This record gives sequence, C-alpha cells and structure tokens, in this order.
Amino acid sequence: MTASSQRAIWGSKIGFLLAAIGSAIGLGNIWRFSYMAYENGGGAFLIPYLVALFCAGIPLMILEYALGHREKASPPLAFARINRLWEPLGWWMPVVAFFGINLFYAVVIGWCMNYFCLSLNLGWGADTEAFFFKTFLQTSNSPFNLGGIRWPILGGTALAWFICWAICYREVNRGIEKACLFFMPLLVVLTLILVGWSVRLDGAMEAIRDFYLKTDLSRISLLTAGGRKVWVAAFGQIFFTLSLGFGIMITYASYLPKKTDITGTAITTCLVNCAYSIVAGFAVFGTIGFMAKAKGVPFEEAIASGPGLAFVVYPEAINQLPMFNQLFGVLFFLVLIVAGISSMISLTEAFSCAICDKFMVSRRKAVSIICGIGLIGSIVFTTQAGLLILDIVDHFINNYALIIGGILECILVAWLLKSQVMRRHVNESGGVRLPSLWDICVRFITPVILLIMVGGALLGDFSGAYGGYSVKALLLFGGGMLFGTRLLSFILSHVPWRPGKMEAEHDPSDEHLLT
Ligand code: PHE
Repeated sequence: MTASSQRAIWGSKIGFLLAAIGSAIGLGNIWRFSYMAYENGGGAFLIPYLVALFCAGIPLMILEYALGHREKASPPLAFARINRLWEPLGWWMPVVAFFGINLFYAVVIGWCMNYFCLSLNLGWGADTEAFFFKTFLQTSNSPFNLGGIRWPILGGTALAWFICWAICYREVNRGIEKACLFFMPLLVVLTLILVGWSVRLDGAMEAIRDFYLKTDLSRISLLTAGGRKVWVAAFGQIFFTLSLGFGIMITYASYLPKKTDITGTAITTCLVNCAYSIVAGFAVFGTIGFMAKAKGVPFEEAIASGPGLAFVVYPEAINQLPMFNQLFGVLFFLVLIVAGISSMISLTEAFSCAICDKFMVSRRKAVSIICGIGLIGSIVFTTQAGLLILDIVDHFINNYALIIGGILECILVAWLLKSQVMRRHVNESGGVRLPSLWDICVRFITPVILLIMVGGALLGDFSGAYGGYSVKALLLFGGGMLFGTRLLSFILSHVPWRPGKMEAEHDPSDEHLLT
C-alpha cells in the first residue's frame, strides 16, 4: 500500500464542512470583528468586509481547498510537487501557524478556562481591569522581564493542550471530525442563547442601533486616507477570520474524497463564518450597551479591543446584570473555549500532517510530540511578560507572515501552476462550476490587494515602533519569530522525501495545460 492510499478521509461532507468552519470561527470572530466594526464606521464596515470576502476570501479559500484536494498532501508536499524550490514556503505556513499562533492561542484558551471557573463566584471582584492585569496576569513592565510563571494560567493551558492532543491523535474522521460534529452545533446553540439574552438587556438595542447598525458611509471613502485604512482593515480581518494563509485549509481539504463540491463547500464555509461574526456582534454590542447604561458611562468609553473586551469589559457587564450573573459568565466563556479549541486543533493538524508526510511517522507519535513541544513552547506566554510578548508576536504574524504567505501562495498556484489547471480540477471534481472570473481574482486582484496591505503595514512600522515597545523587543520577539520560523522551514525542507512521496496523485493529463 502506498502512503497516500493510507490517507484517511472525512467520514462525511458535513464533517469536513464543520471542521473547516470550526477552524475559521475562533476568538477573532467574537472579539476582533466587533471591535473592527465599531472602529471602522459601524454598518458601513460591512461594505469593505463583504467586498473583501468576495474578492479575496472566497477565491483564496477555493484555491486552498483545490490545492489540498488535488495533491492530497500537506502544504510542503503539495508545494514541493508543483516546484521543489517552493517547499520552504509550504513549510513556513504550518510552522508559523504552530509557533506563531498556536502557542499563544492555547494560553488565551487557558485564560478563558480560568475565567470560566471565576464566573462561578464572580471571582474577578468589582475592579475587573485591575483584577485582569494585576492579580490574574501580574503583567510585568517589559517583555524582557519574564517574572514568574502564572501557575493557574499554565494549568489552563496544559488542559487546552491535553484536549487538543486527545482530539488530534486519532485519525481525522474519528478525532477532529467527531469533535467538530459535537462542538459546532453546541457553539451555535450557546451563541444564539447569548445573543437572545444580550439583546434583551436594558440599553442593548440603543447601542446596537447607534453603534453597530448605524452606517457612516463617509468613513469608507477611498478618497481619504482614513477610508483606505478601513478597506485594508477589512481585508486583514477576512484573512484572519477565514484562517487563510496558514495551510490549514490545504491540509483539511487533503482528506476529501475524489468527488467533492469544492466551490460550493468553500463558499459555504466563508458565508457561515462571516454570518457567525455578524450575529455574534449583536451580543457584544448589546452587552456593552447594557453595561454602559448601567454604569452611566458613554459607549465609547466602555468598549475595548482584544483581550480587554473579553476579560475586562465582559466581566464588568456580568457584574452589573440584575440576575443569573454566573450563568451568563459561564455561557460566555464556554463559547470562547469551544470556538478556541476548534481553531487550535486545526493549527495543530496543519503542522502534524506536514510532519507525518515528510518523516512517515505515525500520526499518534507526531501529534504526541508536537503537543508536548507546544505545551513547553506555550510556557513563555504564561509568564508575567506573556501578554506583552503575545501582543508583539500577534502583530507581526497578522501583518506580515499571513499576508506574505497568501501572496506567495497566489503566485505559486495561479501563475506557476496556472489557475486554469486548478479551475479545471475544481470543475472536474463536481458541484458548483467555478467561473473564469476566479482566475482574475487569484492572479491579479487578491495578490495586488495583499501587497498593498503589506506595504501599509511596513509604512506603519517604520513610522513608529508598534505599541510603544522598544525596538529591541520588536526585533527580538517579532522579527525573531519571523526569522526563526523561516529558518526552521528552510531546514525542514532540506530533509529528503521518502521514495514515492513526490509522485503526484492527480491526473497527469492536467499537465498539458502547463505548456
Ligand atoms: N480564524 C480564527 C479566528 O477568527 C483564528 C485562526 C487564524 C485560527 C488562523 C487558525 C488559524 O479566531
């Protein structure tokens, strides 16, 4: 039996779909989307957001699905088959996903687990901000001042890694698929309860109307610098929220059976993910609106971005609820945990699948070693400098690694392999027909927009140090992460493939289009 014929496949179409949606729906859908919408013109933000979804999100999702499905391989193997010189990029994507995101993603899930327990007795007290930064994280004054390990955080992180290991070490159809078949319906039900509850709170509807739905079209004008920034932000959000550029969707699609509706499934994944964000936004705006009214502060002062939203503003709102405070807290943090775990397993899967492909080790062995390394690597984020290092790493990964990965992926697949080859493969696999407009998107529109985004990020970083950190800290943690992951990818790509691995599985008649 060849290695590829041993490859597991998803047990059902819905299993694959829920796993892909599980990867896409994560912490970002809840705390990143709402804040972005608020900051960038409320309802008007939906216009660039939807344009980004259709011009870059869906085309790239189809590209990643098509590549994984055609090659039935992890990103490094798929890229190496197209062109051996591109294998390092194929490694970089899952390596960045693992070391650049997964290590701290696990720690954030660890925070959520702690807050889940704290909800039971509202253990964060009256001053939720002081509790989060001073008592819980004990944040130090510099990223170099690691201080001690925060043991409750390490405990939560270890539990997150254990759950991830227990799910990933089984074959995809018995591990990830089963877990997502359970997690995703649970997530939808819990989220709907939370939304239904939040919009009924006193002051919720006014906040939703005035800050979420109110459309300020002047904020998205392409004629102003501010407006252009909103467009860049929308494209960035689409990329992050759909988990594109990390090789995750390539990996997941490599387990698909031969006859698959690639276009239809990619569109469904994207639409469900974005609909989830928009619906969850009602809960976030409603809850903050309620809190602002209860405390008599303006909405603008109450809202916060990132961790501040979930761990400072939400606990504060929970404190203010007239009844069932604990239940609301448990519900909210459970939503975050479930959304987080289903993304964490996809980040782990992308790396372990690549390791299995190259080193021909058993899945169990690869996943066990990788989760062990993951837990050890996460420790740095559980120290008192954890939040600061996380912030720097996150900035560099989102602004550079992810987007550069996306640009290179477009060049490789749409130009070197040729988008027509991919489109033909997609259309021969059945389902919704992919029009030739897709070629224009992945050859021109998507890479050009992504290039503009990297340019914008570079300009921003050269005009002032990000977040007020020292240049030394940015270079060490941000630059170091980019350089370290590149180096590791380079080393891994120099390990030779086992005989037979490089032989393509797809129909060689595709190749005539290459000439
Ligand atoms: N899409 C996830 C979210 O919105 C984050 C994520 C990014 C997960 C990349 C996996 C890979 O939170």
